[in-house]
Amino acid sequence: MKIVLTGLLLCLLSLATVKGQNNNNEPSFSQVFKATDKWLVLPVKNGAPKKNVELWIDGVEERWFDIELADGTPDWLAYIDISAWKDKEIELRVDKLSASSTAFHPIRQSNEDTNAGPLYGEKLRGQFHFSPKRGWTNDPNGLVYYNGEYHLFFQHNPYGVNWGNMTWGHAVSKDLVHWQEMGDVLHPDHSGPMFSGGAVVDSNNTSGLGAPGKPAMVLFYTAARAWGQFLAWSTDGRHFKKLGHAVVPRINKDNRDPKVIWHAPTQKWVMVLWVERDKGQHTIQFLTSPDLLHWTPTSIVKGGIGDDRYLFECPEFFELPVEGSSEKKWVLTAANSQYAVGTFDGTTFTPEAERLQGQHGRDYYAAQTISDEPKGRRIEIGWWRTHTNKADNSFNQSQSIPMELKLVRTPRGIRLSRTPVKELETLRAASYPVGARRLKEGDANPLAGIQAGLVEIRASIEPGKAKEVVLDIHGLPITYDVSKQELVIDGVRAPAPLTKGTLDLIIYADRIGVEVFTADGLLFMPVNVNIDSENKALGLSVKGGTAALKQMTVYELKGIW
Ligand code: FRU
Repeated sequence: MKIVLTGLLLCLLSLATVKGQNNNNEPSFSQVFKATDKWLVLPVKNGAPKKNVELWIDGVEERWFDIELADGTPDWLAYIDISAWKDKEIELRVDKLSASSTAFHPIRQSNEDTNAGPLYGEKLRGQFHFSPKRGWTNDPNGLVYYNGEYHLFFQHNPYGVNWGNMTWGHAVSKDLVHWQEMGDVLHPDHSGPMFSGGAVVDSNNTSGLGAPGKPAMVLFYTAARAWGQFLAWSTDGRHFKKLGHAVVPRINKDNRDPKVIWHAPTQKWVMVLWVERDKGQHTIQFLTSPDLLHWTPTSIVKGGIGDDRYLFECPEFFELPVEGSSEKKWVLTAANSQYAVGTFDGTTFTPEAERLQGQHGRDYYAAQTISDEPKGRRIEIGWWRTHTNKADNSFNQSQSIPMELKLVRTPRGIRLSRTPVKELETLRAASYPVGARRLKEGDANPLAGIQAGLVEIRASIEPGKAKEVVLDIHGLPITYDVSKQELVIDGVRAPAPLTKGTLDLIIYADRIGVEVFTADGLLFMPVNVNIDSENKALGLSVKGGTAALKQMTVYELKGIW
C-alpha cells in the first residue's frame, strides 16, 4: 500500500516538473516535493560538470550550492538535512540538468545516513585523524570546550570533494581523540559563504546572548560576500542562531578569519583579524570589545607582503607561561604557522622575536587552538592537506592530531614547542619494546618481528659515526642525515639538531602521513604521504658507520572510528 501511495505521489509530483530553458539554453529543472524524511539524497560523480541546486521553501531560497551531480551511477551520495522543513513543500531547482539525467528521477529522501562503501574504513581514511564523513574540509574553525565537550567546527563542502560551498561542519568529542560528526551548522547565506573563524564561551554573559547558568558559545566567522565579521551563538552546543548583521563591517579589500580571546586584565574581548592593506601588505588587525557585539579597532601588526605569507590568513593569538619560569609571553601566528613572541597590554602587541618557523613539514595550515580548554592547556589542531582526492572517494582532507603548545627557553630565544596530547595514549593497543643495541650497516632488522598497522613510535637514537639512520614505516623511509643533522621524509627536509648527541623521536603514522616530533617538540614535521595500509612491516637500519639505539617502543594504535 505504502509503495503504491509513494508511486502515486511521485507521479503527481513529477507533474509539477517544469522543464525550462536557462540563459545557456540548457534545460533546467524544478520540482516540488514534500519533506518526509531527514535527508534529501544527492548523487555525486566526482569531476562531473557542476550544477547549481537550490531549495526553496515558502518562497524563500533556503539553500543553494553547486554540485557535481551524477547523471548516471554516482560515486557517492551527499545528504542534505531537510528535517527542519518536515511536511513542508520544498521546491528543488537545478540548473543545466540534462533531460536524461537520473539525478532526481526520482527525488530520493532517506532517514538513514549511509554510503555504499564502508564509511570510515575507506582505504585513504585517516584512522586517528578527524575527516568529515563526506565532502571536503580545510581549516578547523571554532575550536572550543563547552558543556563538557570539545567542539571542532570545520570548513566543509558537504556536496563535493573539492573546496567550495563553504559551510561550517561540526564534530564533538569528550576526549579530544574520538570525534562524532554532528551535521552542518552554518550554511551560506545572502552575506556569502561561511569562511573561517573562532569561538569563545561567554561565561559572564557579556553579550546577553546567554541566560543565567547557560552561557552562550559564540562563533565568529567571515561571510565571504559582505566580507564582514559575523557571529552566531548556541546555548546548548547543538542549535545555532546567526545574529544577522556584521559585528565588524568590512575594513579593507580582503579581511577575514576572526579569532577572539578574553583578556582578563582589561576585562575585554580581543579579536585578531587578517586584513590585507595596500600593495598586498598582510596585517593583523587587533580590535577590542566589552560585549562581543561592539568592536573598536585598536592596533595593527604588519606581516609579509604578497607571496611572503608571514601573518597571512587565520590569525591566532594567545598567552603562555615560559616553561620553568614565572614569565609569560604572547604568541601571534597565522595560517602558515610562522609566529612572533612578544608582549601585549590589552590593545597593542609588541613583538620581541619575529618570523619564527612554527613547523617544518608539508601542507600543515590554518591551525587553531582550543578556547576555554578545561585544563588550561593550549591545544592546537591544524588542517592537513592530505592526498585523499582520489577516484571515487567521498571525502577529502583531514585535521591533524591535537598537539599541546608550550613556550620554552632555548639558547636562541623563547620558542614554541608542540607535543601530541596525552589523550592520544589511550589509542595504544599493543606495545613492542625494542631493546637497546648497537646498529651497524648490514645488521638484521631489529623490528622484523613486529607487525603493526597504525603506529606511534618513540625512540632515542645516538647516530654516532653513522652517515644515515633509516626508520622504515610500511615502506616510507624516515631518514636521519647525520652530517647535516636533518630529517628527510618523502623529499621534505627539516633541521633536527641532536640533543647531547641523541635524536629523540616521536612519530605518529596513519594512512595519510606521518607527524614527527623531535627535540622535545621544538621540531614538528608533518608530512602528508599516503602509506600502504596493507603493509604492516617496520625497519630500522644504518648506513656508513655505527649508531646506538638507546631505547625504542613501537605502539600499535587503535583507530578512532
Ligand atoms: C585558509 C582560508 C581562510 C578562509 C578559508 C576559506 O585556508 O583561505 O582564509 O577563511 O580558507 O575556506
